[in-house]
Amino acid sequence: MSEKKRLAAERAVEFVQDGMVLGLGTGSTTYFAVEAIGRLVKQGWDLKGVPTSSATEEQARKLGIPLLRLDEVETIDLTIDGADEVDRGLDLIKGMGAALLREKMVAYISKQEVIIVDDSKIVKMLGTKSPLPIEVVQFGHERTRRHLEALGCRPELRGGGSPTITDNGNLIYNCRFESIPDPKGLETRLKRIPGVVETGLFLGMATKVVVAGENGIKIMER
Ligand code: A5P
Repeated sequence: MSEKKRLAAERAVEFVQDGMVLGLGTGSTTYFAVEAIGRLVKQGWDLKGVPTSSATEEQARKLGIPLLRLDEVETIDLTIDGADEVDRGLDLIKGMGAALLREKMVAYISKQEVIIVDDSKIVKMLGTKSPLPIEVVQFGHERTRRHLEALGCRPELRGGGSPTITDNGNLIYNCRFESIPDPKGLETRLKRIPGVVETGLFLGMATKVVVAGENGIKIMER
C-alpha cells in the first residue's frame, strides 16, 4: 500500500516547476511528496511551501523547504494533497488526518490542486467507504452533533474520551452516511449549522487526481 502511495506522490511531484509556490498537503501519501520536494530543494530548486498542518510544517522544516504563511501569498501555483475518497467527477472527501480546514483554505487559492491516492480511494459515490470528517467548535459540540444527526448521519467524536483537538483548537466529528448522493446540497446544509467550521467535502477543487494501482499510474483530469 505504501509503495502505491509513494508512486502516486512521486508522479505528482513531476508537475512541480522551478520557482513555484507549493501547497504542502497532509497525510501518509503526501508525506512522500514532501520528501521528494525536499530533494528538489537540496538540488537547488527555488521552491517555497505553504504547509496545511503542523505535522507537515515540521517535516518540511527538517527537509529545509522554505515556508510561507497563507497570509503571505496571493495564490499558490500547485498543491499536492491526499484524499480519503475520490469520485469520478473529481469531488473528494478529505480530513481523516484532521487537517481539512487548512487543507481547504490552501486548496481554495491553488491554481492546481493535484490529489494523490491509491486505487482503494476511488468510489462511485462519496460517503460509501469513508465517514465525512466535520470540524466543529468545542462550545456546544454535543448540540452541534445533534444537528449533524438530523441530516441523516451517525456522527462519532474523533478520539472518543480523549478527543482529537485540531491545529485550530477545534473538534472533529466523523459522520457516517450510507452514501452522499447530493454532495453540494449536503455541503450547503452543513455550512448552515452554527458550530460547524468546515466539512471534508472538497467539491470542484481538484484539478488532477494521480491514482496508483496494481498496473501503474492513472491520471484523472477535470
Ligand atoms: C488530512 O486531513 C487528509 O485530508 C489526508 O490528506 C487524507 O486523510 C489522506 O490521508 P492518507 O494519505 O494518509 O490516506
